[in-house]
Amino acid sequence: MDILIRDTPDQVAQTAADIVEIYVRRGQTIGLATGSTPLGLYRELIRRHREEHLSFAGIDAFCLDEYIGLPADHEQSYHRFIRDNFTSQVDFADERVHSPDGMDPRPWVAAELYEKHIRDVGGISVQVLGVGTNGHIGFNEPASPLRARTRVETLHQQTLSDNARFFSSPEEVPTHAITQGLGTILDARHPLLLATGEGKANAIAAMVEGPLSASCPASVLQLHDQVTVVVDKPAASQLADIDYYRHMESARPEWMGLDGLPVD
Ligand code: F6R
Repeated sequence: MDILIRDTPDQVAQTAADIVEIYVRRGQTIGLATGSTPLGLYRELIRRHREEHLSFAGIDAFCLDEYIGLPADHEQSYHRFIRDNFTSQVDFADERVHSPDGMDPRPWVAAELYEKHIRDVGGISVQVLGVGTNGHIGFNEPASPLRARTRVETLHQQTLSDNARFFSSPEEVPTHAITQGLGTILDARHPLLLATGEGKANAIAAMVEGPLSASCPASVLQLHDQVTVVVDKPAASQLADIDYYRHMESARPEWMGLDGLPVD
């Protein structure tokens, strides 16, 4: 794993945008997370679109997950969240911004169709991820099957309480979601996980330095050969080998780009 430690959330967003931009300029498919963590990244991509001609025309984007039972235009649906906070503010073609259909009366079929859709476009190149305080990625909660494809998941009580802040009452948080599975996420060419704030420190330490275990679903990323984790100092504060991660970045060979490939 590349572990990049930054002083501030703004710098996390800058570094993440540098990585996403590589794939966008190549016209490759991107995977998007919702939640508060990637908002700085999306703001920075919008700025680069307006000021530096970064164009999203002609590329596809796939959301990681969607609540079951929220209509697409609901304020808290991920379909709407990603449009309001990112894709409608750049030149993405709206029909190329995809998310699972959380209103399908047969959500397991919607999950299978979504998985197929990702496969049909040739897979996701860079997949933006946040991490839950309990180590979930997408909505793959502890005890998730490590090789699963897009599927229906029951949200953990911790996630319900973490996400209650977005709804007017905790009872309104949907109890189920369709999420890309851990196996689907592992198929992305380059998972890019962002975390800021002390509340994520334990999850980051468990993911990077703990055992590979379904108890910390994010630890499945240990199996991937091109993962980048960008964290601010508070989120990095529980990492035991932090000096090595800093050294790894400062000793990075000049020829190696942030995507792990030789720079052109
Ligand atoms: C969002 C998602 C979740 C969030 C995670 C962190 O699409 O799949 O895994 O990334 O819950 O959420 P925030 O960033 O709000 O702390």
